[in-house]
Amino acid sequence: EEWKDKGAALGVREEYDDNGKLVLRQVKKGVRDFVFGRTLGEGSYSTVLLATDRQTLKEYAVKILDKKHIIKEKKIKYVNIEKDTLNRLIEHPGIVRLYYTFQDSASLYYVLDIASGGELLGVLKKIGSFDEECTRFYGAQILDAIEHMHNRGVIHRDLKPENVLLDDQMHIKITDFGTAKLLPDPRKPKDPATSYDMAGEDDELTRAQSFVGTAEYVSPELLTEKNACKASDLWAFGCIIYQLLTGRPPFKAANEYLTFQKIVGLDYAFPPGFPPAARDLVERLLVLDPQRRLSIEHIKNHEFFDGIQWGRGLWRMKAPRLK
Ligand code: ADE
Repeated sequence: EEWKDKGAALGVREEYDDNGKLVLRQVKKGVRDFVFGRTLGEGSYSTVLLATDRQTLKEYAVKILDKKHIIKEKKIKYVNIEKDTLNRLIEHPGIVRLYYTFQDSASLYYVLDIASGGELLGVLKKIGSFDEECTRFYGAQILDAIEHMHNRGVIHRDLKPENVLLDDQMHIKITDFGTAKLLPDPRKPKDPATSYDMAGEDDELTRAQSFVGTAEYVSPELLTEKNACKASDLWAFGCIIYQLLTGRPPFKAANEYLTFQKIVGLDYAFPPGFPPAARDLVERLLVLDPQRRLSIEHIKNHEFFDGIQWGRGLWRMKAPRLK
């Protein structure tokens, strides 16, 4: 078993206290440091539980991955990519933060920020659709988080309203980096410990079997070229903006095959009353050629986002009341 998290196995460090007495200091958190509570979410390889740190009483969301299942399904590479990705993206308010990782004989544990507002999809379903102001605010926060990921060499590859969580302030936190693609970090010369997904170098066979995200948000280049790039996340972003305003994604059909046909045929329409500035933005994002899609800088300057204060101010803003 090549689980990456075997460092600090003892979890203690020898230190001397103020009186010069040798003490063992805990440096590594473990299962026994948390009280586990209710289930927050369930995925195909994992369960997310509420957990409270016994010492600080701080609450976390702990993602528990079943080792046997991961080995059986040959997903070891992906759980390591998720950990490496989260470790690279810390310190952004729009991305779920990874605090600790540990393991026992059965499971891997990722201790994450808790997002008590649940999924953006749940909120959207409850109220049907967002008005322009709410779409502008949530769109801007999602875009700011995407920009941070891309600047750090991470392509998410499965952006959708289920993977956008809301915290107690109703600010977004992007989650689920298990299918992300890690590019070499532009800010670091090299980090040999990182698990790369053979970015751009995989042979035809691995490419043909490689990951496809959720049907409705998949970019046309992934379907035709079997290749995702940073612009693929911006295609998904265009789908999300459309969905926030209408309540449904632009490409939706009875099954995956028909959905894919609609995507590669750019077969979608705007309902009456769709705001014109948002329509212009979506039309410039849902472009088949990824190289011709609007860049993040151009999206930020698009008239739909007029009045948005980009940067830190966006995360100090009070979220608009949902309506
Ligand atoms: N479900 C999955 N991840 C979660 C998180 N970080 N917070 C709350 N619920 C979640």
